[in-house]
Amino acid sequence: MMKITAVIPAAGSGERFGGKKQLKIMGGRPLLFHTLKPFIDSDLIFEIVVVAPKNDVQQLSRELKSMISVKPVTVVAGGNTRQKSVFNGLKVASDSSELICVHDAVRPFVTKELIEKAVSGCSEHDGVIVAQPSTDTIKKVMDNQILETLQREIIWRAQTPQVFSKSALQEALKMAEEENIQGTDEASLLERIGYQVGFVEGSSLNIKITTKEDWVFAEAIYNHLQHD
Ligand code: CTP
Ligand code: MG
Repeated sequence: MMKITAVIPAAGSGERFGGKKQLKIMGGRPLLFHTLKPFIDSDLIFEIVVVAPKNDVQQLSRELKSMISVKPVTVVAGGNTRQKSVFNGLKVASDSSELICVHDAVRPFVTKELIEKAVSGCSEHDGVIVAQPSTDTIKKVMDNQILETLQREIIWRAQTPQVFSKSALQEALKMAEEENIQGTDEASLLERIGYQVGFVEGSSLNIKITTKEDWVFAEAIYNHLQHD
């Protein structure tokens, strides 16, 4: 079995949300803890790396190490961009791990099944992401003008988890850094240098908490899942 490290970028400042949403309490525990649960539970994940804001590294490291006994957990400081944060996480992944599973700290409704579905797709690709077909019609807009309406059938919304061969992700991040390229996800950095990235269909419950409004949806999903 290939060894897989989960890298959880959690070092953002939550500008659009108005604070560190990844540590906001939901159901009595910081959001990040909910996100980590399926990674702790999945036997496919052999270690967890959490990338945290510099000032939270010490405390989080203490808390997570006492909470997680079944596998190694490392907390490192993030960078100014998500991409840098993921790179920092990748750098402390164990030498023996062959796949990296990147997952946003602010997507707390990821499941073990979704992680494992993404991982299993990896045998045929350099990476696999979780994505959802768009239910909205997407328009290209510039200067307040609609330029084009995209064909909805070919539009998919990228989520995380995103699983990559470690060496391919390393190369993609290194080249992006050298060429000053900022991607909004890791997959795009592999795609641009010719790697084949596959996808599996995700879940519409796997939302990313970006704004305050998203917290309303998140609490509703949380309550819904509690009563399942
Ligand atoms: N992230 C990170 N390091 C950064 C920026 C983001 O690790 N320098 C993480 C966030 O903590 C989050 C994930 O990447 O778990 C997705 O980012 P996003 O939703 O954009 O969160 P923020 O960057 O915190 O929010 P904003 O862009 O509104 O400031
Ligand atoms: Mg951000």
